[in-house]
Amino acid sequence: MNAPFQARAGLRDPFTAFVCDDSTADMLRPVAVEHGWSPEKVNKGGLRNAVQSLSVSASPTILFVDLSESADPLNDINALAEVCEPGTVVIAAGQVNDVRLYRDLVASGIHDYLLKPFTVDQLRDTFAHAQSILSGPRGEAQADKPHVLTAVIGVRGGVGASTIATSLAWLMGEKSHRSTALLDLDVHFGTGALALDLEPGRGLTDAIENPSRIDGLFIERAMIRANERLSVLSAEAPLHQPLVTDGTAFFQLQEEMKNAFESTVLDLPRQMLIQYPHMVHDAHVAVVVSELTLAATRDTIRVLAWIKSNAPQTKVIVAANRVPSGGALEISKKDFEQSIERDVDIIFPEDRKVAAQAAKLGKPMAEIASGKMSAPFTQLSNMVLSHASDDGATAESKVATGGKSLVDNLKSMLAKPKDKAA
Ligand SMILES: Nc1ncnc2c1ncn2[C@@H]1O[C@H](COP(=O)(O)OP(=O)(O)OP(=O)(O)O)[C@@H](O)[C@H]1O
Ligand SMILES: [Mg+2]
Repeated sequence: MNAPFQARAGLRDPFTAFVCDDSTADMLRPVAVEHGWSPEKVNKGGLRNAVQSLSVSASPTILFVDLSESADPLNDINALAEVCEPGTVVIAAGQVNDVRLYRDLVASGIHDYLLKPFTVDQLRDTFAHAQSILSGPRGEAQADKPHVLTAVIGVRGGVGASTIATSLAWLMGEKSHRSTALLDLDVHFGTGALALDLEPGRGLTDAIENPSRIDGLFIERAMIRANERLSVLSAEAPLHQPLVTDGTAFFQLQEEMKNAFESTVLDLPRQMLIQYPHMVHDAHVAVVVSELTLAATRDTIRVLAWIKSNAPQTKVIVAANRVPSGGALEISKKDFEQSIERDVDIIFPEDRKVAAQAAKLGKPMAEIASGKMSAPFTQLSNMVLSHASDDGATAESKVATGGKSLVDNLKSMLAKPKDKAA
């Protein structure tokens, strides 16, 4: 039953709606006008009328149909499919709050199911999404671009992991033309929404409280759109509310994002590795964000070892952030690399001006950065994509095999303070 609603859009009415009640009609008409569609295309009569009408006339490009008066929505949708021409994007609305029904409707080729009562913003979002489907060959794009999951992990607080995660997600959307989700798992102190000048909403908190609600429809509703190709799920959970979850919600969110987007960037607080180790299992790439300090060196060693034993298939990119110019380094790059027994892949210089500008404008640092500061961001997104598409040897193969243990190496360094200077 999928075929009738898929494929191309031809020359036809852009929009027709069949609704059961006045309030739905009253909400639809102005939104139709906003899209340049005739408000007269909002008909009363629901699904039955839609089937009758479409059996004798051409199908519109976008069809809105109200299932409220339908006793057997799934069966009736299938009847609609019989009379509906290929290329129509069908949006259904109804009062039945049942995930199984939603799944069955989607399997029947329905684009979306709006649960009544819905808001005018939800309606707009659904239309916007329907239009994006019509303007781009989504199915082909997804086949071309297998999903890429990247986890960004800061080895210590404040090293700039969220800055890099937000920028990477933005680059994936803007430069690599991938529909991208940024999932900020710092539930209390996350900055994913703040950094993009957005309100985080309740989506992530709802997901944690009610993991069974997480499905494609939930993702579409809960994710906050930053731009056409970037959506964010972030939270500012109240500080009196401890994080109570066995991690099911996070796993479920990852799964649904895999279906809904071409790439997902996880901003993963390092404590999460301990609490929910499975979060990294499916990541194609882990970006380990560090800085050139002794404490960060110790923790880079530990995080790299953790990834090696818990997610050996995940390719690792080590990024040193906030690297000051001049000689103000706590530990040199060379000593850092020797201690972690591998190369640093990317160096992000310390640039307070760009960081402040990005924060003030509510834009990702990668968008503001130019020249010396923009090169590492481009390098990062290129590396992520090339690692994800390369199933050969992992980046771990770069790790040198020294005789001493990783921590021994660091200890010997700490014992020689004169070697620390850059
Ligand atoms: N390369 C940089 N140059 C200057 N400032 C930077 C740079 N990268 C990040 N910052 C700044 O560092 C601060 C901390 O960044 P961010 O919140 O991304 O760190 P984090 O590792 O996610 O912290 P947390 O441990 O709280 O999650 C921010 O004010 C950010 O603007
Ligand atoms: Mg952070």
